[in-house]
Amino acid sequence: MNPTVMFVRLSENCNAGCFMCYFAHQHGLYNITDEQFDSLIQYMNDKGTYNLIRFTGGEPLLHKNIINYIKKSHEAGYQTSIITNGYLLPNYGQKLVDAGLDQVIISIDGSKPEIHDKLRGLKSGLERIKKGIEIMREQNPDIMLRANTVVSPYNIADMVDLHNMLEELHFNSWSIIPIRPTDSPNTLWAPKDIEFYKEKYNEFLKNIDKHNSVELLGYSKAWAGENDEEISKTFNNQFRINPTNKCNLVDYVRFYIPDKDLVVPCNCAAHRINQIEADYSIESDKYKKADIMAEWLKENGKSHCTGCEPLNAYVADNPKILTKKDFKY
Ligand SMILES: C[S@@+](CC[C@H](N)C(=O)[O-])C[C@H]1O[C@@H](n2cnc3c(N)ncnc32)[C@H](O)[C@@H]1O
Repeated sequence: MNPTVMFVRLSENCNAGCFMCYFAHQHGLYNITDEQFDSLIQYMNDKGTYNLIRFTGGEPLLHKNIINYIKKSHEAGYQTSIITNGYLLPNYGQKLVDAGLDQVIISIDGSKPEIHDKLRGLKSGLERIKKGIEIMREQNPDIMLRANTVVSPYNIADMVDLHNMLEELHFNSWSIIPIRPTDSPNTLWAPKDIEFYKEKYNEFLKNIDKHNSVELLGYSKAWAGENDEEISKTFNNQFRINPTNKCNLVDYVRFYIPDKDLVVPCNCAAHRINQIEADYSIESDKYKKADIMAEWLKENGKSHCTGCEPLNAYVADNPKILTKKDFKY
């Protein structure tokens, strides 16, 4: 196995209150230690196949040593990336760029405060994202900006305005993630509104043709499916995009969870860790264990996974893009 991308969950804590996320308002939970971080970088150096390290959480900007970790990763020759709710970008934007950060992935769920701030539980969230972008661009006009949007019944009608806003802000790329159904009924599509959702999805598709600067990543362009049957199933909570054949992504991606000192082979698996742990109680070194899990998921992922992010599904079908350093992932 020759993985190229390492995700690191720097912190289990979060300052946001996203309605669909189990990290919402978590405080006092685990943060990666310097020893764990140094040992991870040492492993990546020894392995010699990695080219990108991506910091996530919880909220990674809540970790007091994030700047140092980005600097160390950059100096070790890795491309660096963070996934953030953006609230603290006005405070850390300049330092992040100085430390050598290459890419910022910002979770944005609406083009207006009454949508974005509400869904994310962050007062002035959108305003602070815009301020943070301005600060980072002043320092490095070429910093790569990607938006992540969780599309749900609460923002599907705003997707056209959101696309237009991302164009105006000169985002490089956009990953659209249909809401992952959890135990909570408020994360489900309401099938009574199916015609309304379809109309909004069509408006989104039409608006794509008007733009060509923000790149929709992977299968994000068709996040609800490609034909009427798939689209109807999506809005009946019965369909999610999956890899066409085997999941080849697991050969290339690793996700480190310091709290459990565990490595898993994709960022979706990281959110289903209790299930995964139950399935993989293998006694082994954590990196070898991830390789064994990857082999298994590659063969059996289709029946096991609850449904992929459209970007991950695309990469699973076209894994070679992970060996390039052009941030298509
Ligand atoms: C868990 S967050 C961690 C990083 C950071 N705190 C942020 O908000 O971007 C990583 C990504 O997962 C997405 N996410 C959270 N809960 C989700 C759900 N139930 N379904 C789909 N995506 C979800 C977030 O929107 C975000 O883009």
